[in-house]
Order: sequence, then C-alpha cells, then structure tokens
Amino acid sequence: MGPEQARQVLAETSFVGWRRQAGWSPLLIERAEGCRFFDTQGRSYLDFASQLVATNLGHSNTAVAEAMAAQARRLPYLHPSFSTPLRAELQRELSGVLPPGLPRCFFSTSGTEAIEAALKIARVTTGKPGILARSRSYHGATAGAISVSGEFRRLPVEGLGTVPGTEWAPECYCYRCPLGLRYPSCRVACVEEIDRILARQQDIAAVIVEPVVGSNGVILPVPEYLPRLREITRRRGVLLIADEVMTGWGRTGRWFAVDHYGVVPDILVTAKGITGGYAPLGLTATTEALHQVFEQRYFPHGHTYEAHPVMLAAALAAVREYRRLDLVARSEREGRRLLAELQQLAARHPSVGEVRGLGLFAAVELVRDRASRIPMYSPERKLTGDPSVVEEVAEAMLARGVFVLAWGSNLILAPPLIVKAEEITEALAALDDALGIADAAAAHAAPPTGAFGAQG
Ligand SMILES: Cc1ncc(COP(=O)(O)O)c(C=O)c1O
Repeated sequence: MGPEQARQVLAETSFVGWRRQAGWSPLLIERAEGCRFFDTQGRSYLDFASQLVATNLGHSNTAVAEAMAAQARRLPYLHPSFSTPLRAELQRELSGVLPPGLPRCFFSTSGTEAIEAALKIARVTTGKPGILARSRSYHGATAGAISVSGEFRRLPVEGLGTVPGTEWAPECYCYRCPLGLRYPSCRVACVEEIDRILARQQDIAAVIVEPVVGSNGVILPVPEYLPRLREITRRRGVLLIADEVMTGWGRTGRWFAVDHYGVVPDILVTAKGITGGYAPLGLTATTEALHQVFEQRYFPHGHTYEAHPVMLAAALAAVREYRRLDLVARSEREGRRLLAELQQLAARHPSVGEVRGLGLFAAVELVRDRASRIPMYSPERKLTGDPSVVEEVAEAMLARGVFVLAWGSNLILAPPLIVKAEEITEALAALDDALGIADAAAAHAAPPTGAFGAQG
C-alpha cells in the first residue's frame, strides 16, 4: 500500500490517543536502528525522545529481539497460574537493580496497569480508600490511574471516567512554586503541607509521586523533599508509591530516580524501559510486608497477560543489556554533557525560562517572558488541537530530522541511553535553530488567558 493510501485508511479507521482526531496525518515509519528511525521515504530521524521515553536501549538491540523471538517459538503464552524458570531468573536480576526491600513483583502490560495494581494493593492492605496525589502528575489512563493524575489529562474526563477518593497536594516545583515561596527559605513547605493533609485526612492509604515528575516537565524535587516525604509517610502509617514508569531504567542516571535520594518506597511502579520498549510490560514491586497481607487472603487482581513469557524474556534480556552496555553510568555521564550544553544554549534564547535535567532526561521550559515567567503554552490548545508554539518548535526540529516531545510548555529531551556525543550536538543544533520560533513568539505574543492560564 502506498503512503497516501495508507494514511487515508488510517485516518478513516483509527482512534489516536491524547489528541483531537481531525487532521491526524502521521509520519509512516518503516524501520529503526540505534538512535534513528526511518520513514517510508527513507528519511532518517534522530530519536531524541526514545519515542515515548521507552526505547532506552536504542532501536536495534538484537539481544532483546532474539530473546523475544526464541521465547515466542518455545512458549509464547501461559496461564498466569503456571510459571517459568524464566520468571525466576528475571526476579533474580530484578533483585539486583530494584531498590532493596521490594522483593514482591506483579507483572502486567503497561504503566497504567501497574499503577492500578499499586492502588488496589494500597487500598486493600490498608482498608482505606483515599490516595494523596500531586497536582502536576501523570499516572496512567484508566479510571483509577487517571483519577490520581493531575488536571491536565484528568479534567476532560472528570466525573465520567474517574473514581472518587483523591486528595491533592502541591508539587515541589521551585520554578513555579504553587505556594508562592522560595527555596531554601521555604523550608520545603510543600512536603510539610503533605504532613498537614495526612494529619487531617485519616482515610488515606497512600501518597503517590513521580520522584522526578516526567511528562509535566522533568521537575526535580529539592534534595530533602523525598527523604522527608518518606519520613512523614512512615510516621503517619501511610504507604508511599513511587511511579517510576518514566524515570526507571537508567533514565535519570541511576537505575531508579529514588536511588538519587536514598529513598525506598513501599510500592515501586515501573514499565517502559523495563523491556527497552521492545515489549509492553508493567511491574508493581512491593515490600514483603504488603505481600504478607495476602498470604492467607485472596489477592483480588490479575490479567490474562499477567507475566506474559515473551514480555518477561524481553525484560530479562533488557536488564542484562543495561548492565553489559553500562547504560546507567552512561546516562549520568552523557546527561551531564546534555545539561551543560543546554544551559549554554538557553542563555542565547529569551524564550527559555528554565532548563532542568537529571541523567538523559531534560526539559526546556519555554516562557513568553523571562521576568514574569508567563508560560508559553495554554492547555486549552491541547483540547482544541491548535498547534502551540512549543509544538511548532518540535515540528521544526522534526523537519530538520530530530524528534523531541512537546508537552505543555516544555520540550522534553530523552534520547536512548546509547546516544553518542555527536548525536547530542546534532540534536542541540536543531533545537538552537528551532527556538527562533519561540523567541519570536516570546517577543510578540499576548499572555495566555483562561482557566489553565497559570499552568506551565
Ligand atoms: C509517570 C507515568 N506513569 C504512568 C504512565 C502510564 O504508562 P502507560 O502509558 O505505559 O500506561 C506514564 C506514561 O507515560 C508515566 O509517564
């Protein structure tokens, strides 16, 4: 089928996530290799986003692909009540990379499903319905997971596709402090606010956080935030759920982002990079104590594709590849280079409000005005589908052959962890050029208005 006909068929037959449906005319991609992917016309694109922050191992890892093919030939699928030596081997590998004290693993097929399992485990083990989540967050698309996600994605389905029981806490976002304070004189008031909420609300089972907020703009907590949150949750007898769907697997320069802060949650959720994006797999890892609750009691959860053998084979091969290629250390090293180069570049562009990053995970937050920090983006545009300036910058980069993500006011840079120094230079040259669009908009555009106007 030719590309035009294929696009027509796709336009007439598809639902596409998180966008207005009209006008969808996707690039048709044929193959990928290393950090690049190629369209049907043979054009090459540098993948500076690991697609959806998943292909941490790059696109042509034969060890993972072959492990999956071999498993599919030998035993493609199994009733979840049976198991395999493969799962035992994977568990052994996981025990070497997960934070200590999280030995019990439930395998599903996505980050969202892994979050659902975590929420259910938290609610059933504590007997409490409430979850405390933060305003700038994303934890997944299904009813439970979207109900604990920030308003940006939740509002369009609020009340129809959500379930009650979420309390909201301010995020730790110093560039736009929700409490209007400054660090360090604030004494990390945002985490103390969580303590106050937990003192007031006795029915909260768990606090859920992305240790480094991902799709809302690579927002790093101040160093004392997570250790203090761990202290507070422990003292109040509330579980701590760390959502490492995006930040796990070396993305931030440690196996998991919580490792930067010496914090071990009660439940760690991950997906995406667990297979390097080669197969859909979610993991919910818990303490022994949480598992004990179900020792003599029914565990009310499960899926047809729970612990799917081909997915587990992909994960086992992926963990070994992360180690063999030393990708976690590489992410830290190359991430430092990326951040330093981004900071230099930012100084030349008035539309750049802040650059943030940890490991090979960085955001360039665009503003209409540096002094007043007016966000470049107004979320109404997401709902209407009109391209934002931030999206225009990303599109200009794509036209130059570099793929990055445009999320809210942020450009997100998250290349495969195998990225080479010259590929970083190539991506930043494209960014440098494309930021001209945002600089022009910063000089001319009117401030955003509307209900979301204050949001980045
Ligand atoms: C932090 C976080 N949690 C959960 C999810 C949901 O994962 P999935 O899209 O695999 O269902 C995502 C997806 O981007 C995420 O970034």
